Amino acid sequence: MDHVHERLQRELIAREEAQALRRLTVSQGLVDFASNDYLGFASDAHLKKMILAEIAEMPFFGSGGSRLLTGNNAYVELVENEIAAFHDAPAALFFNSGYEANSGLISTIVHRHDFIFYDAFIHASLREGIRLSGAKAYSFDHNDVDSLQRLFEIHKGNIFVVTESVFSMDGDIAPLSEILALTEKYHAALILDEAHATGVIGKRGEGLAQHLGLHSRIFARVHTFGKAIGTNGAVVLGSTILRNYLINYCKPFIYTTAPNYLQLAAVRMAYRYLVTIQEPIRRLHHNLKCMKDKLHSVTYAQPVSTDSAIFSFIVPGNAAVKKLSADLRIAGFDMRPILSPTIPAGSERIRICLHAFNTDEEIRGALQLLQTKI
Ligand SMILES: Cc1ncc(COP(=O)(O)O)c(C=O)c1O
Repeated sequence: MDHVHERLQRELIAREEAQALRRLTVSQGLVDFASNDYLGFASDAHLKKMILAEIAEMPFFGSGGSRLLTGNNAYVELVENEIAAFHDAPAALFFNSGYEANSGLISTIVHRHDFIFYDAFIHASLREGIRLSGAKAYSFDHNDVDSLQRLFEIHKGNIFVVTESVFSMDGDIAPLSEILALTEKYHAALILDEAHATGVIGKRGEGLAQHLGLHSRIFARVHTFGKAIGTNGAVVLGSTILRNYLINYCKPFIYTTAPNYLQLAAVRMAYRYLVTIQEPIRRLHHNLKCMKDKLHSVTYAQPVSTDSAIFSFIVPGNAAVKKLSADLRIAGFDMRPILSPTIPAGSERIRICLHAFNTDEEIRGALQLLQTKI
């Protein structure tokens, strides 16, 4: 066994030498410009009361098995139906995480002789699905419709296009209508990850596809609950044929314990909150406008994008961006560095995630501090 540990240690040391070693940290007492809890749902006292009241009525906590055995119940189906209705989709299927939903969806529905055209910046969970599918996969340049068009001209067959609404590194938004138009022109099917758009884009946080009125033309949409929804889990939205297919063939759905009642209640109440109490979304949108206005008046480097709740500033080099993040922590702000190899070397970033609960003063303070440091 020692030789295995030696090998692992060697690889960890190499990471450390590249200033890229990942560590688990606990942050307390810092101004949160780092979490994906865009609406503050993860710590919302009113929502917590709603969740506790909901689960107080329930006879069980755990689901007791996988969905195809004893884990299915009326409650999980009710939650799926309500989420499908909110997102105006024919059907929804619940997964324990966005990672499982994305990797399970793609690896199940795309077959070995199919083609996948995917945006060069998609999330690791989508990439994992592509890898597991064994399909012939080609990336198109990030958000570049001409690059996608070229792929359609070269490769013929059964084609799936995979992209995200809001990209997690820079918060920029996909040109969805153009991508969808091309997908339809070539009779392909679009898979859209709405992780960072859920709860953020649209008046009720319904996501980009619905906000633009394009949702009914998209083959599959994935909404995740670990970000603005404040808990964890995900749904795949699509036709009832797609839902039935996943129930039959998707291993990360079949061979895992069904979501427990606590998780389902948290998701259900968060969606109810989105519909009934729109104050958090209004505050988030107010803060986004406030951030953009303030950025206009600063002279230093601008963020890569101002389209969503994510603002990234390029600070090349792992060492430089890690030092910046550490300095910001000392000043009381939690902003995380994005390091290579997660992104290409030389394009390392410091990322601000904006929330409904951030105050005007915090936003001003963060930007002033960045101005002195970048
Ligand atoms: C774009 C994107 N898709 C999917 C996921 C995975 O979702 P989850 O955290 O629910 O597994 C994430 C984040 O972690 C993400 O940023």
